[in-house]
Amino acid sequence: MILMKMNLLLSLLLLASTLYSSLAKGAFQSLLPSEDFSDRSNVSRARRLLEDSESQARTSVDLTRGYMSNSDLERNIKEFGERCSNISRIYSIGKSVNGVPLWVIEISDKPGEQETEPAFKYIGNVHGDEPVGRELLIILANWLCDNYLKDPLATLIVENVHLHLLPSMNPDGYTLRKRGNANNIDLNRDFPDQFYFANDDEESRQPETRAIMNWLRDIRFTASATLHGGALVANYPWDGTHDKRTFYYGCPDDEAFRFMASIYSHSHYNMSLSKEFIDGITNGAAWYPLYGGMQDWNYIHAGCFELTLEISDNKWPKASELPMLWKYNKMSMLNLVASLVKTGVHGRIYSSGDGRALPGFITVSGINYTVKARKTFGDYHRLLGPRDRYEVVATMPGYKSKNTSIWLDEGAMTLDFVLDPEVSVKLKGGILENVHDCNCDSKSKLEFVQFLWGSHLEVFFVFIVILGFLCLLFQRRKKVKISTSKQSTGAKRTVVV
Ligand SMILES: *[C@@H]1O[C@H](CO)[C@@H](O)[C@H](O)[C@H]1NC(C)=O
Ligand SMILES: *[C@@H]1O[C@H](CO)[C@@H](O)[C@H](O)[C@H]1NC(C)=O
Ligand SMILES: *[C@@H]1O[C@H](CO)[C@@H](O)[C@H](O)[C@H]1NC(C)=O
Ligand SMILES: *[C@@H]1O[C@H](CO)[C@@H](O)[C@H](O)[C@H]1NC(C)=O
Ligand SMILES: *[C@@H]1O[C@H](CO)[C@@H](O)[C@H](O)[C@H]1NC(C)=O
Ligand SMILES: [Zn+2]
Repeated sequence: MILMKMNLLLSLLLLASTLYSSLAKGAFQSLLPSEDFSDRSNVSRARRLLEDSESQARTSVDLTRGYMSNSDLERNIKEFGERCSNISRIYSIGKSVNGVPLWVIEISDKPGEQETEPAFKYIGNVHGDEPVGRELLIILANWLCDNYLKDPLATLIVENVHLHLLPSMNPDGYTLRKRGNANNIDLNRDFPDQFYFANDDEESRQPETRAIMNWLRDIRFTASATLHGGALVANYPWDGTHDKRTFYYGCPDDEAFRFMASIYSHSHYNMSLSKEFIDGITNGAAWYPLYGGMQDWNYIHAGCFELTLEISDNKWPKASELPMLWKYNKMSMLNLVASLVKTGVHGRIYSSGDGRALPGFITVSGINYTVKARKTFGDYHRLLGPRDRYEVVATMPGYKSKNTSIWLDEGAMTLDFVLDPEVSVKLKGGILENVHDCNCDSKSKLEFVQFLWGSHLEVFFVFIVILGFLCLLFQRRKKVKISTSKQSTGAKRTVVV
């Protein structure tokens, strides 16, 4: 009986805390565009993007003046690593065709350590002739180092995210001033594709592509973005269509992707004012379909929500314009990383048996996509756009799955799951017996309710009054807890299911 009461009590407390926390406001203004995108197909604007600026590069000697050479870049990365050694780590994920190391800067208060925090990556210079990204990533790293513990956003990122920056994925292409790598392969067409299997030969894949694929096997990224040039827009999956036609083709997480892309475009100086793209964002396939791209592969195979960001109409702006481009993109770059902490559902999955962390799975009803919890801590990070109701389901082989409905405003939510083993083995009176999970629990719950509604209505009302009082108490404690917890994470709320 006491157990049943506790059950009911817990459910009501959960309801109360959910109601309470739904009042907490998130950090972002309403960012979701409400337009219908379906009729925006086939706006063939791929133009400058796909052109190789090689001929331009050959005739204009001054193109790279003021830009970092590959050795400048390497020196800058290493200097950064020394200057900011306590919040960063420098490592290489492989080498280009011509043997140039692909250096990565990781920024975190615990670089290289596993934590229950989400990881984000920025990749610049995927196309050799699009060098703005590699410059901005070095500026970003230095800005974070200089402003850690001074600026709240810098502090939030360093303390709550593992941020990995690969300034140049294609150093050879950069030296050659061309789009492809040293083998003249477009690296953003070199990944395995969901529709066309031409890229499935692991052996023939470029070393830069393989380096990225192995990197993503090593590190579980929650989200990422690549920095390109030739347009001004935030592009999200799918990038390809099954029949090669150009039309809006959203992936299962279209809503979350539009939300992410909007965070970038609305934080940007003028991306959202675009006359070409409503709100400064576009579905990849609605713009122009491509195959073997990196962003679709990230979403399908690496559990990583990746955007392709076109950050300047001009691929090679004068180097003197770089500080301005940093100013235009700064808040976007920071807010996109911070959105991993400030939005979405995060939590851990445990076993009710021994409290062990479980590498379970998180799904959301109506969205055909699975997010995996990580092995060591059972933590998961599920990006979602704001919505009135999501049903979140946690599963793990050998355990009974659990689900719960949540309201997600534009703030983040912490949702932990405690799963019960399917079959527990108990020692009872010296006899080993299998205790199968039966439905006696729900049956007795029903009996309890009937008992209350039946002859003991007065008792029921007294019970409700007591519950209301307890809820109030709980809320007050929760309020205090929220206000004393880390300010930097914003209005984060915690629920255990
Ligand atoms: C899409 O573009 C192609 C070529 O650019 C054109 O032939 C076709 O009619 C367009 N379709 C629509 C629906 O606009
Ligand atoms: C890193 O060093 C700075 C300056 O010495 C210090 O203020 C900060 O607390 C250190 N951060 C960490 C995470 O150790
Ligand atoms: C954004 O500002 C830049 C620099 O002033 C300008 O060149 C560009 O055309 C603007 N783009 C939009 C979409 O307003
Ligand atoms: C869900 O997605 C998978 C691929 O990830 C696909 O094979 C399956 O058919 C999809 N299911 C539904 C119901 O759309
Ligand atoms: C959620 O849980 C309820 C009750 O436990 C169950 O009836 C329902 O099928 C579950 N939904 C999903 C999507 O698992
Ligand atoms: Zn590009």
